[in-house]
Amino acid sequence: MKLPGAPFLAREAGELRLEGHALAELAARFGTPLFVYSRQAMLSALRAYQRALHGRRHLVCYAMKANSSLAVLQTFAQAGAGFDIVSGGELARVLAAGGEASRVVFSGVGKTRAEMRQALQAGVRCFNAESVPELDTLNEEALALGCRAPVSLRVNPDVDAGTHPYISTGLKGNKFGIAHAQALGAYRHAAALPGLHVVGIDCHIGSQITQLSPYLDALDRLLDLVEAVEAAGIPIHHVDVGGGLGITYTDETPPDAGTLVRALLQRLDERGHGQREVLFEPGRSLVGNAGVLLTEVLVLKPGFTEDGGKNFCIVDAAMNDLVRPAMYEAYMAIEPCSQRSGPAESWDVVGPVCESGDWLGRDRRLAVAPGDKLAVLSAGAYGMAMASNYNTRPRAAEVMVDGPRVHLIREREEARALFAGERLL
Ligand code: LLP
Repeated sequence: MKLPGAPFLAREAGELRLEGHALAELAARFGTPLFVYSRQAMLSALRAYQRALHGRRHLVCYAMKANSSLAVLQTFAQAGAGFDIVSGGELARVLAAGGEASRVVFSGVGKTRAEMRQALQAGVRCFNAESVPELDTLNEEALALGCRAPVSLRVNPDVDAGTHPYISTGLKGNKFGIAHAQALGAYRHAAALPGLHVVGIDCHIGSQITQLSPYLDALDRLLDLVEAVEAAGIPIHHVDVGGGLGITYTDETPPDAGTLVRALLQRLDERGHGQREVLFEPGRSLVGNAGVLLTEVLVLKPGFTEDGGKNFCIVDAAMNDLVRPAMYEAYMAIEPCSQRSGPAESWDVVGPVCESGDWLGRDRRLAVAPGDKLAVLSAGAYGMAMASNYNTRPRAAEVMVDGPRVHLIREREEARALFAGERLL
């Protein structure tokens, strides 16, 4: 099987390597649990979008919720990306990493007034507004600051992205966006407010999407609206098609970014919208396959298979480090960092957290022994960014490899830091 993350991730002479660095050695040097990212894999994923968009007015806004570590943001900012943010905290991170507010779009279904002010003062490129009350509040805040807020309306196109219900966002029953049928009215409302300036339209239909057709359907629905809105005398500058492109965790075969971009540009051209600026908000597809989570085998607990028991491989990473399996029953590939000879057996790879839902992989065929280092693959997206301190577990360290260089980009958290802000009675 081709490794997810190839060609940056490869197995050579039994050793799993990321950009040539032996992962077992990085685990020994920095300790586990440890996230390791390939900078070149991230840049190559971004370039796939940028290359296909070459010659068009465009902005690729990295959806930083997927991985908001400063060095990751810095990597993308230096490579010309913008950012899709969903909180004031994310805006602060972008600025701390050297990103420009003028390349930031602010998404999210519940922005606070304070966040709106912060983003207006920073000068973000636009607010992706999700409701009429949000437009009214944003108008008030902009007027109070003596400025106009650039807005794009996030429209819910009501298409099925064909993905996990928790990460499907473009259906009628979802909390996201303005219903397609109400969008024209919402545009009229926005255009009449003196503190707003309508600049675009956007949608985001879900995540880990592995087909082209939902994107094309959503774009068609968006363009129908653009035509109606412009016919009503409200110019729309950009079309933001959101993020959501899937990656390979096991045997998924999503279209590559170039194919997706070209298909969407072609549809824009066919419908006479080729002149519009196009925005993308990819998260997972820029970072997912660029990272792994390294963990050490602590204990093996073979089960009594005669009575249906299971073999448990207990490792030092847990649901607090990587919640995707527990939360979505997501499959993430698990590979030994150094291959060992000997028969493979079926193991449930689980963490030390006191929850039966604390598992990283089920029924995996592995030849393992205590002390071995394992790599959970495709862990660059929604890994560290969703990590918690449950069970008072300090969060993992993070390393970024870049050609011959190895950078520690986040120190391992210390337990005392976790309660440093707390007070005894
Ligand atoms: N734009 C908006 C408005 C979003 O809500 C999202 C993701 C993205 C862009 C980026 O989507 P991506 O390209 O990463 O699929 N924690 C889940 C995924 C949640 C996605 C939420 N929204 C997971 O681990 O699968």
